[in-house]
Amino acid sequence: MAKWTAADVTDTSGRTVIVTGANSGLGAETARVLAEAGAKVIMACRDPDRARAVADGIDGHTEVRRLDLADLSSVRAFAEGFDGDVDVLINNAGVMAVPKGTTADGFERHIGTNHLGPFALTGLLINRVRDRVVTVSSGLHVLGRIHHDLNWEHRRYQRWLAYAQSKLANLLFAYELDRRLSAAGRRTISVAAHPGVAATEGQRRDTSLRGKLLAGGPAQAPQMGALPILYAATAPGLTGGACLGPDGFMQRRGHPTLVRSSRRSYDATLAARLWEQSEHLTNVAPVLPMRHSGL
Ligand SMILES: NC(=O)c1ccc[n+]([C@@H]2O[C@H](COP(=O)([O-])OP(=O)(O)OC[C@H]3O[C@@H](n4cnc5c(N)ncnc54)[C@H](OP(=O)(O)O)[C@@H]3O)[C@@H](O)[C@H]2O)c1
Repeated sequence: MAKWTAADVTDTSGRTVIVTGANSGLGAETARVLAEAGAKVIMACRDPDRARAVADGIDGHTEVRRLDLADLSSVRAFAEGFDGDVDVLINNAGVMAVPKGTTADGFERHIGTNHLGPFALTGLLINRVRDRVVTVSSGLHVLGRIHHDLNWEHRRYQRWLAYAQSKLANLLFAYELDRRLSAAGRRTISVAAHPGVAATEGQRRDTSLRGKLLAGGPAQAPQMGALPILYAATAPGLTGGACLGPDGFMQRRGHPTLVRSSRRSYDATLAARLWEQSEHLTNVAPVLPMRHSGL
């Protein structure tokens, strides 16, 4: 693929896109580019005032809606309050290496916010997603393991490993969702993307040496980090189950290209087990009825 940039985003007029975490970092940049290319962008954020301040700086059609992924009642309220279909759902929001804590539903914060919230959101919206779901992971998924003790209740908490577990869960989910959509005969696809290392609030939060090393060293601009997400969200002819990342050294920086994630992330047995566990924990069981026309 030639060096793809935001200028290559196709005309998105007439399309509706939901971007979670659109008030900051990569989500804000993704929302800006898509709205300025013509899409109606639903900015799904936990603090509507901060989201509106970002929306005010975007020269395009945006709409702010409240969504707290760390609270399943907020996820349900968002899905119930959203009318109509959406072309692209971008599961971008996430917390990175935060201290031990729990979400409103008692889940460990990384797995709760980064995986279980988006799992529930996607499950509640999936029959209204026309084109694709993009789930944002991280290169750090390679350090991740999916533990039976998903919520870190019975082992020593390590925040970077908790983050890595949630980012591996993102990939297992993205690929499993695509297998299920395909088995149901749906045209909607599910793809994954990761930004490499980009200078955002999330990436800067852990200022320890260990944090800096794990976060991946010198960062590229958010405008570059958002490119794999934008490519995943707009490229025509993308195959379901694809993963996009930067083309540079160790996928840390560069322009978007198709990448392979870790071997573990393609483990369909592990993915099916995580899916069942996620259904059980969120009480959301995505139903994918067979569709032969339209969706
Ligand atoms: N930057 C990197 O180098 C890097 C590397 C690999 C992967 N990623 C991934 O990229 C994605 C975006 O991160 P970023 O770097 O742009 O960081 P960021 O600037 O911190 O943005 C994270 C976004 O997620 C939102 N968020 C956090 N908790 C939420 C919740 N409970 N409900 C709804 N939204 C919530 C944040 O909202 P608030 O502003 O309200 O907190 C913010 O809008 C994440 O999934 C991250 O794992 C980033």
